[in-house]
Amino acid sequence: MIEEIRLQELNPEKFISERTQEIRDAVGGDIAINALSGGVDSSVVTMLGHLALGRKLRTVFVENGLMREGEAEQVYNLFKNLGVEVEIVDAREEFFDALKGITDPEEKREAITQTFYRNVFGRIVRESDAKYLLQGTILTDIDETVAGIKRQHNVFEQLGIDPQDAFGYKILEPLIRLRKEGVRKVGEAVGLPSELFARIPFPGPALAARIIGEVTPERIDTVRKATVVVERVLKASGAFQYLAILHEDRVTGMRDGKREFGQQIEVRCWNSKDARTAKPARLSFELLEQMAEEITSTVPGVVSVTYNIATKPPSTIEAI
Ligand code: XMP
Repeated sequence: MIEEIRLQELNPEKFISERTQEIRDAVGGDIAINALSGGVDSSVVTMLGHLALGRKLRTVFVENGLMREGEAEQVYNLFKNLGVEVEIVDAREEFFDALKGITDPEEKREAITQTFYRNVFGRIVRESDAKYLLQGTILTDIDETVAGIKRQHNVFEQLGIDPQDAFGYKILEPLIRLRKEGVRKVGEAVGLPSELFARIPFPGPALAARIIGEVTPERIDTVRKATVVVERVLKASGAFQYLAILHEDRVTGMRDGKREFGQQIEVRCWNSKDARTAKPARLSFELLEQMAEEITSTVPGVVSVTYNIATKPPSTIEAI
């Protein structure tokens, strides 16, 4: 049973000094490695590891081909400004090969987990002699995995898998007692710019979590372009999280007087405190219309845009 540190009892400075000490004690003279996705959790872990270990921490950004527009360069530059050198590893082909033909949500997650840990990251770790992996698992990930709602990509021990036996390294999870709001507070205290620690959550499986049906480079490109619009238009909404989902079914549309059997994008915009429950934001119809107009005009092949009005539960925030 993991003891939660609640927001009101969280002292970020104390948290930072305790966790960095723990990381230092655990790693000793060895090398640690961590994967940075640019999300809040992995960004905070990167800074904790950097403070604790300096150059004994290697931070890798795995370009899996599933990230949002321009994400790799943004993350690289932001961390460069903070004195952290990030290595970008191009693994796009491996991920798309692994995802080929898969439509089942859990199988997709499994393919991404296996490709990430066993193949790409496992290989980087084995070649680096690193003995420790720093990872940004938070309490909400554990809850939902234990409850059997979803198989989060980053939770091994709770699934009875020993990462040392299976993958050859030990996992350190310094954020495991926090929820999202706590992580943001620590992020601010650890010196991350607000554009990073105040970012909306983004899932480990990245845009693959937002594709119903097969994940291909073309379909990722479609949902990526729609995401650009949704994130830009809803940035000022103050909502907890907003996203675009690509549906599998096609519908008849028309463009330039011609019939087009096109694709459908579903927009979701959630109000939530900690992602455990969520309600759709009551967006103005003008905003919804603006999104529909921009998505259908800038994302090739999309002829239909819908807005999700169901709550979580029974919905979840992402689509897979
Ligand atoms: P769901 O879709 O389960 O999402 O309601 C709850 C919150 O978790 C994020 N999420 C993930 N985060 N790895 C992550 O690190 C994952 O596999 C994953 N799946 C969902 C989601 O964006 C939301 O904030």
